[in-house]
Amino acid sequence: MNKSNIPTAQRAAIGLLLDDHRNVKKLFKAFESAKEQSEKEQIAQQTCQELTVHTQIEEEIFYPGLRGVNDKIDNMLNEAKVEHQVAKDLIAAIRAGQEPDMLEANFTVLSEYVNHHVEEEENELFKMVMDKDIDLREMATKMAARKEELMGEAA
Ligand SMILES: [Fe+2]
Ligand SMILES: [Fe+2]
Repeated sequence: MNKSNIPTAQRAAIGLLLDDHRNVKKLFKAFESAKEQSEKEQIAQQTCQELTVHTQIEEEIFYPGLRGVNDKIDNMLNEAKVEHQVAKDLIAAIRAGQEPDMLEANFTVLSEYVNHHVEEEENELFKMVMDKDIDLREMATKMAARKEELMGEAA
């Protein structure tokens, strides 16, 4: 999805989420090409941190703001909720780091899972939000502020 094609009413909100998606995809690639275990560890922890902030912004602001628009969106949001939960379980396992031998497997499954989820958000949910021309400008301001706050807490 190209940001410049997003209508003004949705651009800031969807643009913020797209940036996050691009960013974690880069981290997934970086993990794959990392040679040292310590480097993999560090990338994995950073990815977990960024995914946690991203899912929190979606769950606190973006998804609730879209609830009730229509049944199709509600169904997509329900599915997203389940997918986020699976991602959270994997993130918790990676963060705990109790089984270093499982890092590669946990992280690989997390990346596959998140890639699938991101495709659905971008190709189905975001697309419908744009087709319906839902005004997300107010939401975008809240999302940006919350993101800053959460990133600050984590630092
Ligand atoms: Fe999501
Ligand atoms: Fe997302």
